This record gives sequence, C-alpha cells and structure tokens, in this order.
Amino acid sequence: MPNKSIVILISGNGSNLQAFIEAQKTADFGGEIIAVISNKADAFGLSRAESAGIPALSVQHTDYPSRESFDQALADEINRFNPDLIILAGFMRILTAGFVAEFRGRLLNIHPSLLPKYPGLHTHKRALENNDEYHGTTVHFVTEELDGGPLIAQAKTRLSIDDTEDQLLAKIQTLEHQLYPSTVKMLLKSQIKLKQDDVYFENDKLEQPLLF
Ligand code: GAR
Repeated sequence: MPNKSIVILISGNGSNLQAFIEAQKTADFGGEIIAVISNKADAFGLSRAESAGIPALSVQHTDYPSRESFDQALADEINRFNPDLIILAGFMRILTAGFVAEFRGRLLNIHPSLLPKYPGLHTHKRALENNDEYHGTTVHFVTEELDGGPLIAQAKTRLSIDDTEDQLLAKIQTLEHQLYPSTVKMLLKSQIKLKQDDVYFENDKLEQPLLF
C-alpha cells in the first residue's frame, strides 16, 4: 500500500513532530510528512522539519485581521499539499467551525490531559492541585469544541506525591511521543475511523478510548 500523506501543524518546540519524523523512518509506519506549517515563524519545530528535509512554512496568525481569514489562509496552504491526514502537534490556536468541518475525520490533536478532564491550559498544574491519582494525554479527532471531539487513545501515568509541574510535563511528553505515532499508524492503516461522532476500531465502536 502506498504511503499516505501527512501535514503537521505546530506552534513551538515540535517534540511531537520529532517523534513523527522518527516514526516515518520505520518501514511499516505507512505515512510520510509532506509539510510542516507553523503559525509562528520562530517555532523551533520548523528547524526540526528543515533538518529532516521536510518543507517547512509559516502562516502567521498575526498577519490576519480575523480568525476566519487566518483559518482560510491556513486551509489554502494545507490544500496545496492535499494531505490524507492533518496532525495538530502543539498547535495552539482555536480553529473556526468552517476549518474543522472542511477537514473533519482527517484532523487530529493531542492534548496533555485525560480528556474530558482539563481542556485548555495548565493541565499538569491542575492535575497536581487536584491530587489526581492519574494524569495523561489524549489523541482525539478535532471538532469545534476546544480540546474536545471524539477520543481515540490515551496514555496515563500515576501521579507521585513529589512530582513537580516540570517533571510531570516531561513524563507526559515521553508518553505522547509513543502514543501519537502509534495512534496515527492505526489511522494510516484505516484501522481507526470516524463515523458521525463515533470512533470505530476495526469494525467496533469504541465506548472508551484505547489505552496505551
Ligand atoms: C504537547 O505536550 C501537546 O500535548 C500540547 O502542547 C505540547 C506541544 O509540545 N498541546 C496542547 O496543549 C493542545 N491543547 P511539542 O511542541 O514539543 O510537541
């Protein structure tokens, strides 16, 4: 089966992007990153893409007068590449309904919490403050809801009494670097699909996200 094409959207460091750059070197990944787009021109992830020989470009939200006009420009850039899959990897922008609808079913995000817990920012701090037993990260299809949308897969870790926010961030990112490429690999093989608002694994509707 030919490789499917992937565009990755970032805003910053791009450690998850790096995990995909490594994953696509393995024979059975099934996908190829054909472009990386950032909404910030100085995002370190753009250098990671360039070093890997992947086209890297920025569409800066500050150059556009409205959310709609930025999202249109971003969608136009993405469509130039006609990707099978669009992966948000630390892309820190709220997307408009029109953008999300255009790419529905092939637009994925990773969020550093066990969704539906803690959408939004400061997820590690909130998990620590609430003395949660577990914290983790979630891959989901993107809908209009911020950090919402049908959940596909999660990875979790038990919180330790002496975890700091920084230590927890590092632990969660290590989980993400396994979880995100593994989940995308299943999508590339068409093992996972979105039908209406439900996620199907093989032909079974998922009642819970897959746990890694
Ligand atoms: C990741 O931990 C990801 O879960 C988070 O941003 C980080 C990006 O790191 N995303 C969100 O918070 C989305 N709401 P990276 O740039 O090193 O991949």
